[in-house]
Amino acid sequence: MDNDSCTADIDEVDDIKIHTEADFEGMRVAGQIAAGCLDMLTEYVQPGVKTIDLDKRAYEYILDHKALPATIGYRGYRHSTCISTNHVICHGIPGTKPLKNGDIANIDVTVIVDGWHGDTSRMFYAGEPKVLAQRLVDTTFEAMWKGIKMVKPGASLRDIGYAIQRHAEAAKFSVVRDFCGHGVGQVFHMAPNVVHYGEFAHGNHKHYAPDTKLKEGMFFTIEPMINVGRPDVKMLKDGWTAVTRDKSLTAQFEHSLAVTKDGFEIFTASPKGLDRPPYSSAS
Ligand code: MF3
Ligand code: CO
Ligand code: CO
Repeated sequence: MDNDSCTADIDEVDDIKIHTEADFEGMRVAGQIAAGCLDMLTEYVQPGVKTIDLDKRAYEYILDHKALPATIGYRGYRHSTCISTNHVICHGIPGTKPLKNGDIANIDVTVIVDGWHGDTSRMFYAGEPKVLAQRLVDTTFEAMWKGIKMVKPGASLRDIGYAIQRHAEAAKFSVVRDFCGHGVGQVFHMAPNVVHYGEFAHGNHKHYAPDTKLKEGMFFTIEPMINVGRPDVKMLKDGWTAVTRDKSLTAQFEHSLAVTKDGFEIFTASPKGLDRPPYSSAS
């Protein structure tokens, strides 16, 4: 997801690319490889596994499918995935620390196929999650879907943000504001910024999501990050890892999608139906 451009002025509707049917086909192919990569990883997310080994499996899967990992070389990033555990909000760097029973982890993968970017992430459980972790993950998944279901021509980015925020806050959780979804296509991150809130109070003024109207042929991600505690972010010294300032648990899901004539098309739906944990009883 995007952060430094989250506040940039790239949400003018005229800056948002409108795509053709051939472009949709490119995104379907890329999206299915990205989602297939997460499907492949599902059985390997277990206590004792190092996240760097999951990243290596992702790298091999992506190359085997004649795709490229969009993240390698992206602003100096060196891995095929971001793996963000427990209080890591996003952009966690895969490493040698083994997962423990009860950990929750977001794995985010972006592939390039024929120039098209497929960007998706899901939550995974290592072993048995705690009740709160499970409630957070379920709420985040539902919040993403509340946002997705707003997508149709004539609706606005603000409608998406409000739908997500209402669901998260009804559960007494908070929405991260410093990172947002983004336009996606032949460019990894482009207009528009897709914020996951409708509004929030900033000092004594209210900050609103842009009311940019959606049009058929726009491509973007929806990728809410939801925290158990406060929404505030802290960046670690590695320059990538973003954690909750209050160390509370956090979760995220992400799809790449299009606005269609009467709604939306998800490019990154799971080929195996492994949409959310617990994957053994996915329905
Ligand atoms: N996939 C992330 C997103 O959803 C971006 C990761 S960029 C990286 O936009 F360099 F951190 F990998
Ligand atoms: Co993204
Ligand atoms: Co992503």
